[in-house]
Amino acid sequence: MSARKKVTIAGAGNTGASMAQLLALKNIADIVLVDIIEGLPQGKALDLTEAGNISGHDVSITGTNDWADTAGSDVVVITSGVPRKPGMTREDLLATNARIVRGVAEQAFRNSPNAVFIVFANPMDVMCHVMLRTTGLDRARVIGQGGMLDSARYRAFIAMELGASVRDVQAWVLGGHTEATMVPLLSNAMVGGVPLTQLVPPERRQALVTRAKNGGKEIVDLLKTGSAFYAPAAATISMVEAVLLDQQRVLPCAVHLEGEYGVRGAYVGVMAVLGAGGVQKVIEQPLAPDELEEMRKAGAAVHELLQALDKAEATTAPGGGS
Ligand code: 2OP
Repeated sequence: MSARKKVTIAGAGNTGASMAQLLALKNIADIVLVDIIEGLPQGKALDLTEAGNISGHDVSITGTNDWADTAGSDVVVITSGVPRKPGMTREDLLATNARIVRGVAEQAFRNSPNAVFIVFANPMDVMCHVMLRTTGLDRARVIGQGGMLDSARYRAFIAMELGASVRDVQAWVLGGHTEATMVPLLSNAMVGGVPLTQLVPPERRQALVTRAKNGGKEIVDLLKTGSAFYAPAAATISMVEAVLLDQQRVLPCAVHLEGEYGVRGAYVGVMAVLGAGGVQKVIEQPLAPDELEEMRKAGAAVHELLQALDKAEATTAPGGGS
């Protein structure tokens, strides 16, 4: 067995496969792609392995339908679930994806009890709860990916607006990973150290915030058959890398809040120090009063969705409801 780190990616669809490719290029961990569809993870893993000679990666990439092959992973990424189609919200996926994620969570945890779990399936905030409840882990090891992606989109739109390199944009999106509860921060967005508020007039700033909130939907509407995967994969793999290499990066992630920003018992996107063992610290930063209010609303929205899920499951569970 290799002494390299091991990362399992659950779900070998577009997102999972893009993640595997990005991670392979980093050469920092063996990769297992696991999916229920026979042949899909095996085919993608073999295709990626064959690219190694040209792309310069030589980590092991395995495709499998058997969770036993994922045993001893350091990080497990959960992309399993169905994506949105046009006209659907992330919340529409609630009950279906909760069932899928619960099954995956059980298998993943049984085989890799020491892993850090990064949840990407939608609605992501609630799927983090499903993962946390199923595994009984503490919050450090169950992290949601949303803020990295939403921040990347926000930065891309700011860069387009100003004709500036996206590498010189510093801007963050906290809150929920849904159109209604995302909190693209204006109070600390900067380009090359200059506050965005000095560079872009108020109505254009608002347009950037709105476009960031609808970033996922914009792609769904264009693709028509599914949701985004390149930027989501890049966002997730930056988190995987931070954990594997103990980078202690300060990144926007969904974390189970325990009083931060006045939110308790709900997954909400916040800035967190990510390194070995997962979330090492939550950074509660000063926000503008309206941003703070939106953080609270994001927490309340997750509580509502959790109640809706509990209710839906109580009525469909054997022996429960009518
Ligand atoms: C997105 O925002 C799939 O939730 C993901 O594109």
